[in-house]
Amino acid sequence: MDQTPARTVHPPVLHQVQVQDWPRDREVPPPETTLDLDDINLADPATWGRPDIHGVLWRRREERPIARDEHRSTGDAFWSFTRWDHIAAISADHATFSNAYGVTAANDRGAVNAAEGTIISMDPPLHTLMRKVVNKGFTPRQVRALAPAVNRRVDGIVERLRQQPTGPDGKAHIDYVADVAVRLPAAVICDMMGIPEEDQDLMVDLTGKSLTPGEYGLTRHDIPRVVAEIDNYGLALGQERLADPTDDLTSLLVTGQIADQPLAADQVGPFFRLLMLGGNETTRNALSHGMLALTEWPEERERWIEALGTEAEDEVAWSAAEEIVRWASPVIHMKRDATRDVVMGDDETGRVEISEGEKVVIWYPSANRDPRHFPDPYRFDILRDPNHQGGFGTGGAHFCLGANLARREIAITLSEVLRHFPDMAADGQYRKVRSNFLHVVAELPVSYTP
Ligand code: HEM
Repeated sequence: MDQTPARTVHPPVLHQVQVQDWPRDREVPPPETTLDLDDINLADPATWGRPDIHGVLWRRREERPIARDEHRSTGDAFWSFTRWDHIAAISADHATFSNAYGVTAANDRGAVNAAEGTIISMDPPLHTLMRKVVNKGFTPRQVRALAPAVNRRVDGIVERLRQQPTGPDGKAHIDYVADVAVRLPAAVICDMMGIPEEDQDLMVDLTGKSLTPGEYGLTRHDIPRVVAEIDNYGLALGQERLADPTDDLTSLLVTGQIADQPLAADQVGPFFRLLMLGGNETTRNALSHGMLALTEWPEERERWIEALGTEAEDEVAWSAAEEIVRWASPVIHMKRDATRDVVMGDDETGRVEISEGEKVVIWYPSANRDPRHFPDPYRFDILRDPNHQGGFGTGGAHFCLGANLARREIAITLSEVLRHFPDMAADGQYRKVRSNFLHVVAELPVSYTP
């Protein structure tokens, strides 16, 4: 008899584009869900594939803002936080809520964490010293200086889009994920790291495999091999840069020092990997969700298009990028581990005692629609002001190192797409990856007049 356990084959998570036309003088009502409070389990990736996920989060945030969630397969449980204030308090207190035991609430016991050995899996003071090594590659000034390089890459993408064949409807039909969203962030981070053009597709492939192995027909057991491949690539490139440093980030890594010592190989490889993962696997989803939001909220698209070529262009694009990250929340959660017994919550939210060693998970898509922090949170508003969104983290030691870079990439790419192809819009259905960690759009058919 065949003893091989049956592999669960999940149906694709397909979603329908829904055009919204809520008048500005009326608040968009919170979405509904068919799930009862006791049936909600945020650990389950299937929950995140539900079309009513924002209704689910609304119910949790309002009715049980501090909850226990459990992986059904293992019984592993964690504390779940869905309100902005709690998430911000946890993110700000790295002494109580440690990153050192990994930052994902994995679905399987023993699952490999693709961020293992990287600075996101470290606590200060080592974290602070390590982060400083590449910090200067990500300052606002440095990122501003990258604008011409980002523009050049976007121009290349626009040119390719222009050359696409058209169908009988006179429009080109493409997969926006493959032809736009993946390309730009990958090219930019690879350029910054000093990875030659001919290896850039390989890097996209490897980072994708390490974070969404199922998309490539792989399982979590393949992750260590893939991760080692990225680290080894980084180490080999690092050797070249050590002999002949340039102004790229890989040179910063291999010439950097901590307490007068160069970084060890098991620090350089993972650091290289984290920059590749951060650069490739997040902004692409912001770009995809941005295109979706602009399709679903045509008035916002018009406002952006009207600003193009005016003095307000940069300001509007920058503001829109921030709103896209709030709306998309490309990273769904971060996990921390309590380093001591701690009480969280109050009479209103419920008070819980978290014991040392227990896991705590913070859910960014929920924080980013908390009405206590954002008026009219279910409205996509490219001019939202103020917009202290938490998609890059809510603040604290691990706040996204690439936030300025990502904002610039989103602002430039979508401005240029709208300038050259103002009618580009999502075409019916799109596919998301089943994940409770990354909000990945896997396929997004769009049409436009080239
Ligand atoms: C829209 C795009 C992006 C989103 C939504 C995003 C989101 C995040 C989040 C949520 C964190 C953890 C924050 C925390 O724990 O407080 C993070 C950390 C990080 N991100 Fe990003 N990120 C994006 C783009 C980038 C880019 C382009 C890079 C470039 C390399 C990058 C590199 C990093 C690094 C290195 C960390 C770890 C920082 C640390 O531990 O000190 N990210 N990001």
